[in-house]
Amino acid sequence: MKEIEVKSRAFTYRILIEAGCLERCGEMIRKVSDSKRAVMISDDNVWEKYGSIAETSLKKMSFAVDSIRIKPGEGSKTIDCFTKVCEELGNLKVLKDDLIIALGGGVVGDLAGFVAAVYMRGLNYIQIPTTLLAQVDSSVGGKTAIDLPQGKNLIGAFHQPLLVITDPELLSTLNKKQLKQGMAEIIKYGAIKDKELFKKLEQYGSIEGALLHMEEIIYRCCDIKRSFVEQDERDNGERRKLNFGHSFGHAIEKIGNYTLHSHGEAVAMGMNIAAGIGMKLGITDAETGKRLTQILNAYELPTQVQSNYKDIVRHMAIDKKNDEKGLKLVLLKNIGQSLLYTIAEQELENILEDVLDDILELIV
Ligand SMILES: NC(=O)c1ccc[n+]([C@@H]2O[C@H](COP(=O)([O-])OP(=O)(O)OC[C@H]3O[C@@H](n4cnc5c(N)ncnc54)[C@H](O)[C@@H]3O)[C@@H](O)[C@H]2O)c1
Ligand SMILES: [Zn+2]
Repeated sequence: MKEIEVKSRAFTYRILIEAGCLERCGEMIRKVSDSKRAVMISDDNVWEKYGSIAETSLKKMSFAVDSIRIKPGEGSKTIDCFTKVCEELGNLKVLKDDLIIALGGGVVGDLAGFVAAVYMRGLNYIQIPTTLLAQVDSSVGGKTAIDLPQGKNLIGAFHQPLLVITDPELLSTLNKKQLKQGMAEIIKYGAIKDKELFKKLEQYGSIEGALLHMEEIIYRCCDIKRSFVEQDERDNGERRKLNFGHSFGHAIEKIGNYTLHSHGEAVAMGMNIAAGIGMKLGITDAETGKRLTQILNAYELPTQVQSNYKDIVRHMAIDKKNDEKGLKLVLLKNIGQSLLYTIAEQELENILEDVLDDILELIV
């Protein structure tokens, strides 16, 4: 079993990673909680596949278990769904000492985490992430949130889990589209912080190749996220490097109305743009840009961008992380080394036009 200790302001918690460990989740949770009762929050897909395995293990360790099921997908990260889950907790007469367990992908983790942060002013909760994205990203760091019609993740709280239990075997039932969401983040970690991980991903050469080494990959990604989160729990400085590819990616997602491109695809395009911008500014060396494009292609992630440069900058200009000096970008120096860079809106627009032309020319 691989273990990572995450030190947060409130307490230190562990991420446990081992293939097949879902069957023993009860034992692992018992070591950190003496609650009599656990309420599992999951979505219908995940519950059908894995609910009973987790429930059996919890019952073996004398937890009384209840479950609340939500519909799969981003559509459940709403105020309505949040209210329904809280009302169910009320109906179940859940008390302050009871435990919430999020069993699912990032949607379940964000919603259940937010419920745990605010129901009765906060209950303890455990993350059992079941998608690759959740295992390498959303289950670590304590950010919880729901969406508003006006934007994603607009209501949220920082609330750290008591424990994260990660079973890479659960990935065997994910489809390729969902795996790619996680792969984009994994490539991001290598690019911004870990050249050895990046090199390994190059050697594995494909999603299928990487799947054979997932325990190690998840461990390294969680450890990188841990290091950023520990330095900057509230996301005011260093942690922003985790946004590599994301400011462009969010704009691309919005332009496509969240239907044209998935988050992972948009982030992949965003990372490729960021490398292009870095090269134009003389910050990123050409070899680094080339390796990034190649690895995205190898993992079947898109690198070509059809969106208009003016639209991209317009959407980026409303990011809450910007200030009067300009827009905040994360750029690469080389593979494994990243930096924060502020750029004026007009300058970005001028450079981006060239970068997008270059990217399009590369395909022809
Ligand atoms: N809190 C954070 O720090 C953070 C970071 C990144 C992303 N997020 C959030 O994560 C969300 C996206 O998460 P996601 O990509 O995991 O999506 P998701 O939770 O919607 O899961 C994707 C789909 O996979 C299914 N699924 C989950 N596990 C499965 C399994 N093992 N086998 C088969 N099917 C399975 C789900 O039912 C769902 O249909 C977004 O809302 C995003 O905002 C949060
Ligand atoms: Zn992301």
